[in-house]
Amino acid sequence: MLGRGEAAVTVTGSLFGLVRTELDEVEAQLTATAQAEHPLLGPMLSMVLPGAGKRLRPALALLACKLGQAEPVAMIHMAVGVELLHTASLVHDDVVDSSELRRGSATLYTKVGNALAVLVGDYLFAQSATRCVATANLRVIGLFAETLASMCQGQIDEASRGNNPHLKVTRDDYYRTIRGKTASLFVLACEGGALLAGLPEPQIDAMRVFGEQLGLAFQLIDDILDFSGDERELGKPVGSDLRQGTITLPVVYLRESMQDGSFECLFDTAGPEALVAEIRSSPVLERCQDEATKLVTRAKAALKVLPRTETRQALTELADYAVRRNT
Ligand code: IPE
Ligand code: IPE
Ligand code: MG
Ligand code: MG
Repeated sequence: MLGRGEAAVTVTGSLFGLVRTELDEVEAQLTATAQAEHPLLGPMLSMVLPGAGKRLRPALALLACKLGQAEPVAMIHMAVGVELLHTASLVHDDVVDSSELRRGSATLYTKVGNALAVLVGDYLFAQSATRCVATANLRVIGLFAETLASMCQGQIDEASRGNNPHLKVTRDDYYRTIRGKTASLFVLACEGGALLAGLPEPQIDAMRVFGEQLGLAFQLIDDILDFSGDERELGKPVGSDLRQGTITLPVVYLRESMQDGSFECLFDTAGPEALVAEIRSSPVLERCQDEATKLVTRAKAALKVLPRTETRQALTELADYAVRRNT
């Protein structure tokens, strides 16, 4: 696990090197999408679309496309589509999580209210659908619809627990939730790109597994960083999951390590802050970090059926970054 004071691991230019030109085009198209003619929509889209964000999902989609012979225009549509879907889900997620900071700025709903933020999110979902349709690949379009349904189910799983830390969430519950809310979008980026690349079926399957395992690891690291990260580096609040009553894997493991009822007792008497402190000083974060490393090892193993190319190497490096990151 990263110790305090270690250099921040951020997405560097070199990590995205192979797709830099295409990512610049994606960025330009995201900015163009924000220039909607509607007088209120444009300014609101400009608050969430251009600039910020690691652009990890479009990078994955582009790399997957580069594993084969994807048509250049379709490839950009795919990458823009996954980032629009991601941004839409974040706009809604911040409403659901009552979170005030995103990508270093005040969240959209804190500026324009819940109703408009939900509607901007809907508009972004529609724009994402338009992009996926523009790939003119029926399997990609089907996968898009499947992904959106899975993301909703994952978010519903989480929200339906009613922010109740007394509820006994299991490790299986946790993984089912994050497979839906997060890993499914990584699958769309990776499998969608592989479909557009025209890869043989076993390689498409491999990219699906790669996306899923990487997506699970990515969310697990996000949930670790919620305890151990730095708010300024992350650009979003820390310690907020438990404060909100959201039970993530570190909490599942902490509860398991305590005597029956102790977790609930500590929560009720000392509050979530005490549990956040407890988690920060306990070995559970290390255990979760090891688990994320194992997921990424599985993701990288899936790539072995692909020809050994610099694109495959770049995917491996991106996967390694996902567990080392602290932003
Ligand atoms: C945040 O994703 C939401 C999660 C699935 C954890 P990112 O950490 O990729 O967010 P941005 O796009 O870089 O802001
Ligand atoms: C990921 O979960 C949200 C989505 C998949 C939309 P989180 O709630 O942990 O994401 P952050 O921490 O707000 O970025
Ligand atoms: Mg959130
Ligand atoms: Mg989080």
